[in-house]
Amino acid sequence: MIRYLLKILLVIVSVSALISCDRDKNNPGYNYFPDMTYSRAYETYTPNSNFADGKTMREPAEGTIPRGFLPFPYEKSEEDMIRAGKELTNPLEKSDKNLERGKLIFQRYCLQCHGEKGDGKGLLFTSGRYPFPPATLISEKMINKPDGEIFHAVTLGFGIMGPHGLLLTPEDRWKVILYIRDSLQVQ
Ligand code: HEC
Repeated sequence: MIRYLLKILLVIVSVSALISCDRDKNNPGYNYFPDMTYSRAYETYTPNSNFADGKTMREPAEGTIPRGFLPFPYEKSEEDMIRAGKELTNPLEKSDKNLERGKLIFQRYCLQCHGEKGDGKGLLFTSGRYPFPPATLISEKMINKPDGEIFHAVTLGFGIMGPHGLLLTPEDRWKVILYIRDSLQVQ
């Protein structure tokens, strides 16, 4: 009798296990506790009638500065570049750690145009994909160029070169300058 009942139980369990497999994987099936499936809070990118601009996501307050960034009080102009050269000095020391980081930044953000040696012969230019010759960073002129002017060029861009102020933290910009001075301009 018990064996008979066990067999029936086995059949019931196997059948229910089989029919509970749903072929349609896009359908989550039954929801027993839907409270957490459907958020009652507004989703970030959905419309929102509570705000005048109709958006859920709020703009940052005016004058907000991203963490790790400071306002850069210079324009992209020759004049301001010279001013930056006079007013700004590299606050970081030439330690192995800073140079190592500077090298990494150079390899990731500058090498493709300015070349491994900083001579302006990066692959992007030599392969013909970038039409304008990148400046050499190891000429006499660049060796004599104040740190602050290079910082200005990297931050706001220079001529056709794009700005890197939002790509790199100020520390990383100073570190890449340390690296250019210490490892590229000596050859
Ligand atoms: C997409 C290519 C490209 C990248 C990436 C790039 N540069 Fe440039 N850079 C140029 C070009 C082109 C010029 C010359 C612009 C001109 O004369 O109009 C230039 C000019 C400069 C100058 C000014 C040279 C002068 O004559 O005063 C400096 C300094 C400089 N780059 C440093 C860097 C550093 C440091 C990086 C990396 C953080 C970098 N660049 C990334 C293309 C690039």
